[in-house]
Parts: sequence; structure tokens; C-alpha cells
Amino acid sequence: MVGQSGLFLLVLALYSNTQWVYSAQTCLKTYQNMTIDGGIFKTISGNLSTCCTSCQQTSGCVAYSWDGVNTCWLQNQTQPLYMHSNRTTVIMSPLPSAAYSLNQTYSAGNFFGTNGKNNFHFITWGLTNVTKNVNQATANSSGLIAYQNGQVYIGVDHTNVVTTGRPTTQLQSLWLYNSGLFILNLAHMPSGNTTWPSWWFQGPNWPNNGEIDVLEGVYGMNYNLISLHTGNNCTVQQNYSTYFNGTWANSGSNKGCSIKAPKGTFQDAFNAAGGGVFALQWDRNNYIRVWNFINPNIPDDIKNNSTNPNPDTWGIPNAYIPLDSNCSPSHFNNLSMTFDIAFCGSWAAQYVSGGEAACENVLKNDPSQFSEAYWLINYVKVFGKPGDSLGTYYPTCQFAC
Ligand SMILES: *[C@@H]1O[C@H](CO)[C@@H](O)[C@H](O)[C@H]1NC(C)=O
Ligand SMILES: *[C@@H]1O[C@H](CO)[C@@H](O)[C@H](O)[C@H]1NC(C)=O
Ligand SMILES: *[C@@H]1O[C@H](CO)[C@@H](O)[C@H](O)[C@H]1NC(C)=O
Ligand SMILES: *[C@@H]1O[C@H](CO)[C@@H](O)[C@H](O)[C@H]1NC(C)=O
Ligand SMILES: *[C@@H]1O[C@H](CO)[C@@H](O)[C@H](O)[C@H]1NC(C)=O
Ligand SMILES: *[C@@H]1O[C@H](CO)[C@@H](O)[C@H](O)[C@H]1NC(C)=O
Ligand SMILES: *[C@@H]1O[C@H](CO)[C@@H](O)[C@H](O)[C@H]1NC(C)=O
Ligand SMILES: *[C@@H]1O[C@H](CO)[C@@H](O)[C@H](O)[C@H]1NC(C)=O
Ligand SMILES: *[C@@H]1O[C@H](CO)[C@@H](O)[C@H](O)[C@H]1NC(C)=O
Ligand SMILES: *[C@@H]1O[C@H](CO)[C@@H](O)[C@H](O)[C@H]1NC(C)=O
Ligand SMILES: *[C@@H]1O[C@H](CO)[C@@H](O)[C@H](O)[C@H]1NC(C)=O
Ligand SMILES: *[C@@H]1O[C@H](CO)[C@@H](O)[C@H](O)[C@H]1NC(C)=O
Repeated sequence: MVGQSGLFLLVLALYSNTQWVYSAQTCLKTYQNMTIDGGIFKTISGNLSTCCTSCQQTSGCVAYSWDGVNTCWLQNQTQPLYMHSNRTTVIMSPLPSAAYSLNQTYSAGNFFGTNGKNNFHFITWGLTNVTKNVNQATANSSGLIAYQNGQVYIGVDHTNVVTTGRPTTQLQSLWLYNSGLFILNLAHMPSGNTTWPSWWFQGPNWPNNGEIDVLEGVYGMNYNLISLHTGNNCTVQQNYSTYFNGTWANSGSNKGCSIKAPKGTFQDAFNAAGGGVFALQWDRNNYIRVWNFINPNIPDDIKNNSTNPNPDTWGIPNAYIPLDSNCSPSHFNNLSMTFDIAFCGSWAAQYVSGGEAACENVLKNDPSQFSEAYWLINYVKVFGKPGDSLGTYYPTCQFAC
């Protein structure tokens, strides 16, 4: 009996403590007409400021939704967000244990490597008759890569008529990643007739370790196409589109699962706006999210070079793929960050009158078409969360070399 009431008092004391000790977290970001699906662990009565205080006082509360009248739902998750009339949702500032912090910056001066330590492997095999990928030394000596005005230039041969493939660049990071927040700040992406640029993440033993295409498309499209390719047993419900701002693309064979970002996120329109930011959040055990931001609509924490950017404050993403029992996190491993500029093929040729043969003719004989076929990169930054294993550096290329 004595033991039992002692336990009761101890529990009561702990309960009272957590009730009245204020959390250091602030009510950070307010969304109008949005709510979060799931994670409601407590319902209370009150106005918006009561909700904020209650969330701060309640252990495990990371966000809340309010009905605009007198009910608030305290939540233990911040995702997924979706549009919902008359709901106000507030995201708490993250605990230090859940905040991203800067791990790597690839930018002018160190992008390709420093002190003899390379950051990328340059693929040299190319696509038969279409591209002739060059190695790093050739890319440098022939001006296909350069540091200029604090930016990183990566391009193609745009001056010579060629008889086989057009000299171009495909770079695969020697870091192989297993999670992280990747921010690509781009001043210009490759554009022009017959081009097919991509910024993507690929794993070994394709497709069993996954592929995430954050930025991809061919000339003639006016939107970016975000795609995933995986091994078996990864399904994504169509109705998840509630949680993102893009639209499902028609899937054909070998297309995996693709989402169209809004118009203006690709090539000429994107470049005309002065570029923007592509972000991939790969929260290993929870979800993959992708955002395309076009200048000047870049989140403040990115614009301000925050070392702790918070994707939870960036609004509904262009793509959201939960990693759960329908598609386990084990579908994505050891991904190499890849930049390439390809040409033609059946996809790009769809937008060239005369099809593939005409496309290859332009490719070989009309170098002037390629004056816009270059990346101009302000930086790629990689952020990690405490305790997450971001990735591993290998001195040599491990796959698809
Ligand atoms: C969040 O709360 C719900 C409802 O109580 C619960 O089922 C879930 O396990 C909780 N999740 C976490 C991460 O605590
Ligand atoms: C919210 O509710 C609290 C507690 O009832 C009250 O003190 C406060 O004045 C209310 N605030 C607003 C803005 O209505
Ligand atoms: C929220 O939705 C209501 C009703 O649908 C609308 O009147 C209001 O303008 C919306 N507010 C915002 C900030 O979008
Ligand atoms: C939102 O709130 C307004 C004002 O209270 C109300 O007129 C409207 O019916 C509400 N809309 C929904 C969808 O609940
Ligand atoms: C490449 O070009 C050569 C010479 O024009 C041609 O014989 C060959 O069939 C082409 N290969 C492919 C895969 O198109
Ligand atoms: C190209 O090579 C030169 C000489 O080794 C070097 O100084 C320069 O940094 C290289 N440029 C790039 C973009 O790697
Ligand atoms: C692309 O090249 C083909 C063949 O020269 C030409 O017909 C077409 O007009 C070009 N398209 C653009 C947008 O320049
Ligand atoms: C996919 O799921 C089926 C049924 O559960 C199982 O038999 C198969 O081994 C799984 N395949 C992979 C690659 O995990
Ligand atoms: C999506 O559809 C599945 C199957 O009908 C259902 O179980 C799930 O709750 C739906 N999700 C949403 C967000 O509507
Ligand atoms: C962010 O950093 C870049 C250089 O990487 C610099 O050009 C820019 O001015 C910085 N922005 C702010 C707001 O400090
Ligand atoms: C969706 O994207 C469009 C176009 O980029 C933008 O205007 C809109 O605000 C976005 N909506 C949300 C909810 O983020
Ligand atoms: C970056 O991530 C790697 C791999 O997780 C880790 O070993 C390293 O300590 C991190 N560096 C910084 C500066 O956070």
C-alpha cells in the first residue's frame, strides 16, 4: 500500500512539473487555411494564444491546429501539411535535436574538390552518338567547367560542329548520401533545343537503391518533373497529392512515379527570373519532400544563408512522398548527387520536329543552339540533423562509373 501511494505521488509530481515548465520553443510559423494530417494527441479549448501557450507547456507538442473558434489540437508531428479552410496551423521552433545544421557547402573554389581531394567523378562513357562526356581535366582545359565571379559554371561544347557525340559533362558526387537536406541555389540551368538537363540522386544496383530526380526535363517543357524510381514494393497513393503542390504526371514504362512542378520551374522561364532554388529534404525514416523556388520567392532562411534552415516553414512542397509501410526507407541507399546535361533521345526528340534523327542532326551541326546549355551554380549546401548519418565519402567512384 505504502509503495503504491508513493508511486502515485511521484507520478503526480512529474505530471505537475511538465504542466508548468515552459518549453523554450516558440510558436514559429503560422499557416492560414492549412492543417496537419495526424499526430493529434490532445484536444483543448481556447483561442490562438491559449493554443500556443498550451503547446509550449506540453511535452511532445511540436505543432497545433486551431479551428478558428475555440478548439485546438496539439500535435506531435509537423507533416504532412494540407489545405483546410478555416484552420490555422502553427509550427513550433524545432528542438536542437531536430534542427538541421550545415554540413557541407559546394561552391566556387571548392566545388569540384580541394587539395587533391575530388568531390565528383566525371562520367566519360556518354550516350552513343549523342553525348561524349569528358573527364575533369578535359572539362577544365576546354572550358566546360570553371569558377567565374563566385559561381560555378558547368557546360557543354557550344562552338564546334561534331561528328559523333557533343562533348558534355556528367558529374557524380563521391559522397554517397543516406539522408539530408540538399539546397541547390542556381543562377541558370542548361537550356536550348535538344537539351535534357538533370540534378538527381542515384544509388547502386539500379533501381534497388533508388533514384530521386529533383530537377529534370527536356527542352520544350515549361515545368520541372520530379521523379522517383525504386525497386519492388514501393507504392505511392494517388491521394497523397493532397499534400503537395505539383500534379501527378502520366506514368509510362520505366518512368517510376513522377510529379510535375508548377509552370515556370524549368529552363527559359526559370532562367529569365534569374534562377532560384531547388531543395530536396530526405528525412530518412519519414518522407521525401521537394521544393522549387523561383526568384524572388525564396524562403528567408535560405536567402539569409541560415546554417539552420527549417523546411517546415516553407509551405506545401511541390512533391511529398511518405516513406512508410507502403514504401519503406530501405528503398533509398548510398545516393550519389549527379549533375548532367544530356541531349536528344526519344524524350527530348518529342519536342523536335523530325524526331530523333533531326534532333541528332541539330546536335552535331548547330553548336549555336547550345549557348544556353550550362549550369551556373551559386552553391549546393547539405544539412544534417543530429544523430542522422548523412553519408560517406569514397575516394573513387563506386558504381555507374
Ligand atoms: C502522436 O500521437 C498519436 C496519438 O496519440 C500517437 O498514436 C502517436 O504514436 C504519436 N506519435 C509520436 C511520434 O509520438
Ligand atoms: C485568449 O484566451 C485567454 C484565456 O481565456 C484570454 O486571457 C485572452 O485574452 C484571449 N486572447 C484573445 C486574443 O482573445
Ligand atoms: C482562408 O479561407 C477563407 C474561407 O475559405 C477565406 O475567406 C480566407 O481569405 C482564407 N485566408 C487566407 C489567408 O487564405
Ligand atoms: C469559415 O469561417 C467563415 C466565418 O466564420 C464561415 O462563414 C465559413 O462558412 C467557414 N467555412 C468553412 C468551410 O467552414
Ligand atoms: C551511331 O552513328 C553511326 C554512324 O553514323 C551509325 O552507324 C550507328 O548506327 C549509330 N548508332 C546508334 C546507336 O545510333
Ligand atoms: C582548372 O585547372 C587549374 C590548373 O590546375 C586550376 O587552378 C583550376 O582551379 C581548375 N578549375 C576548376 C574549375 O577546377
Ligand atoms: C530546334 O531545332 C529544329 C531543327 O533545326 C528546328 O526546327 C526548331 O525550330 C528548333 N527549335 C527551337 C525552339 O529553336
Ligand atoms: C515484395 O513483397 C512481396 C510480398 O510481400 C515479397 O514476396 C517480395 O520478396 C518483396 N520484394 C522485395 C524486393 O522486397
Ligand atoms: C488514400 O486512400 C487510401 C485507400 O483508399 C486510404 O486508406 C487513405 O486514408 C487515403 N488517404 C488520404 C490522405 O485521403
Ligand atoms: C549569402 O551568401 C552569399 C555567398 O554565398 C552572398 O553572396 C550573399 O550576399 C549572402 N546573403 C546574405 C543575406 O547574407
Ligand atoms: C503552389 O505553387 C504555385 C506556383 O508556384 C504558387 O503560386 C502557390 O502559392 C503554391 N501553393 C502553395 C500552397 O504553396
Ligand atoms: C557531416 O556529416 C558527416 C557524416 O554524417 C559527419 O561525419 C561530420 O561530422 C559532419 N560534419 C559537420 C561539420 O557537421
